Amino acid sequence: MHLTRLSLTNFRNFARLDIDVPGGPVLLVGNNAQGKTSLLEAIYFLATFTSFHASSDRQLINFLAEREPLAVARIVAEFRYTPDSPKIPSALPGMHRLEVRIIRDNLNGAPRLRKEILVDGVTRKVNEAIGVFNAVLFLPQMLDVVEGAPEERRRYLNLALSQVWPRYAGHLTDYQRALSQRNALLKLLNERGGDPDQLDYWDEQVASLGAQIIFARIHAVQELERLARPYYQQLTRGQEVLRLDYRPSYDPFPTSPLQFELPMLSPIDRSKIPVENICQGFLELLGKQRKDEISRGLTTIGPHRDELRFISNGIDLGDYGSRGQGRTAVLALKLSEVAWMKEKTGQWPVLLLDEVLAELDPARRADLLIRLAESEQSLLTTTDLDLFTSEFVNRSKVWQIQAGQVINSR
Ligand SMILES: Nc1ncnc2c1ncn2[C@@H]1O[C@H](COP(=O)(O)OP(=O)(O)OP(=O)(O)O)[C@@H](O)[C@H]1O
Ligand SMILES: [Mg+2]
Repeated sequence: MHLTRLSLTNFRNFARLDIDVPGGPVLLVGNNAQGKTSLLEAIYFLATFTSFHASSDRQLINFLAEREPLAVARIVAEFRYTPDSPKIPSALPGMHRLEVRIIRDNLNGAPRLRKEILVDGVTRKVNEAIGVFNAVLFLPQMLDVVEGAPEERRRYLNLALSQVWPRYAGHLTDYQRALSQRNALLKLLNERGGDPDQLDYWDEQVASLGAQIIFARIHAVQELERLARPYYQQLTRGQEVLRLDYRPSYDPFPTSPLQFELPMLSPIDRSKIPVENICQGFLELLGKQRKDEISRGLTTIGPHRDELRFISNGIDLGDYGSRGQGRTAVLALKLSEVAWMKEKTGQWPVLLLDEVLAELDPARRADLLIRLAESEQSLLTTTDLDLFTSEFVNRSKVWQIQAGQVINSR
């Protein structure tokens, strides 16, 4: 996949940008606070329709534009798919156009925020447009995926899976909606009493949507692990073996008490379990736990509580790993995500790397640069061009970023 042109209007500190984007590596060079990360943020928004670090889309609208009664931030991308990718029927030849508008207007004096998405000029919902354009993002703070709260890992999985299986994004939205309805009803039954059978409908919704999510995660984690292993092994010079241990909160795998005691040593293969069985088992457990959940006013099991652990040579890196091990695991995971997207969609995703090189030791840096050279297009930010080998710089396009503008490209 090749992003050929990018136009921004009132996006962060880019009041206006219109630029052709070449294939291969592009180095975005500039001092602090000039707009390097914002450029990557805009491109990643096209893949996920969410920002990787803003808590509200409103923060993406340029400050000055925000003062107007009607404020619009716009990202427009032209891109083309690599020919011969039979895996996606949408990989039509020729140029495609993706436009996102983040609009803040006022309704009866109160600010209102909305998003409009156009794919080849046709308005689409997020769940329809996700997966049209694919990107993989590398950030230094991605160490949080290994070391941070489980929520970080679920978010990571959700963003990656949604891009590859657009239906996943739909299931996820519907699951979250069903879950909050069920929680509201549990709370109501707890506070005011009433017929618990009112939960039947929401139990079914939560179980069937949740089963789709669990099923997708089982398969994705297994595939990512297969791809991440050789990278991790290579990055650790053959010293360590990485395992991605998916631990679904509702676990469809029939467990004996003995298996519970040996989670690290015996990887569980859940990939043969049909989605119908997951749904059935989940529904039964929701039924069994109903009384308890009413008294808590909360759904206590399901994909919203899933965990994913990174295990190296039998050691849980989240709990016991060194920083370096954590970084290596994240790097292997990210590289596997790139390969996974390529495998699934037939397209190289656009790679976005924000200040990642500075975090790595020279050997890992060199490994990463070799991998980057294999991909079709990558954009890397840096304040310091010296972090890159002169060979890599010569092969790259270099954009000088200053105060929300590309002042020089060569
Ligand atoms: N909505 C907005 N409107 C205008 N400017 C904004 C908005 N949001 C952030 N900025 C500013 O945009 C500038 C660029 O931020 P960005 O994070 O892209 O810089 P950067 O080049 O990546 O810097 P660093 O090297 O420090 O990471 C910052 O000065 C920031 O305060
Ligand atoms: Mg930055």
